[in-house]
Amino acid sequence: MSAKKRFRPLWVILHWLMALLIFITFAIGLFSLANTPNTNAKVVPLGIHMALGIAIFVVVLLRYILRVLIFKPPRRAKSAPAVISKNKPFLDQLSVYVHPLLYFLTTLMALLGMAIAIPANLFTAVFTQSGTALPENFYLYPARAWHGTLSLLLMLLIIQHVLVAVFHQFLKGENFLGRMWFTKE
Ligand code: HEM
Ligand code: HEM
Repeated sequence: MSAKKRFRPLWVILHWLMALLIFITFAIGLFSLANTPNTNAKVVPLGIHMALGIAIFVVVLLRYILRVLIFKPPRRAKSAPAVISKNKPFLDQLSVYVHPLLYFLTTLMALLGMAIAIPANLFTAVFTQSGTALPENFYLYPARAWHGTLSLLLMLLIIQHVLVAVFHQFLKGENFLGRMWFTKE
């Protein structure tokens, strides 16, 4: 059995794990952290957000390493003409750029999260019983504004990604989701 076939189930599982973790982490960020005062009540959702964000970082890196070592995608110069065919809708033509950007921005979001957490002493405040208070406002740290702004960009990329999947699967009636499932060769 080739390495590609052997690792495919792990590749697929990590995609859906990554997607699930990102949706939950996003939801906590938007609905429980942003625009919420930094009181003690925020420690639990913040801790979950940080732990999931770090888990995402590990999963995305692992998936990227698998991609480079095992799946070895062809270089863009060779693959681009086949990938960007003229009769694909514009949104779909963007996928060739959006896929690497999804890896890049997700990793960057996790790093920026850590760039807020480390100077704000959040690992101590959230994961130990030290009684360390949260800072009054995370915007004291430059990474906070970037974490918020890039989250919007990541959201746009994910929307493009999901719309392309919906377009192929439900409007064109192709088995597109099968490309990220266990059955493909
Ligand atoms: C409900 C949400 C999602 C659906 C339905 C979905 C569906 C798919 C499908 C069908 C493919 C295969 C596309 C192809 O072969 O051309 C794919 C690939 C990919 N997906 Fe998703 N996805 C979702 C969420 C996400 C999220 C949140 C990320 C964020 C990092 C992501 C990252 C990727 C990447 C980077 C690829 C490119 C191929 C690869 O590296 O494996 N997906 N997705
Ligand atoms: C890829 C993973 C991550 C995603 C998708 C994500 C997403 C978000 C979102 C959407 C917000 C709200 C932003 C806003 O509306 O302005 C947020 C806030 C925040 N995130 Fe993340 N995050 C991730 C990883 C992390 C990590 C790893 C940490 C820390 C270790 C972290 C720490 C924070 C903090 C401290 C805030 C600010 C909360 C506030 O201002 O009250 N995030 N995140």
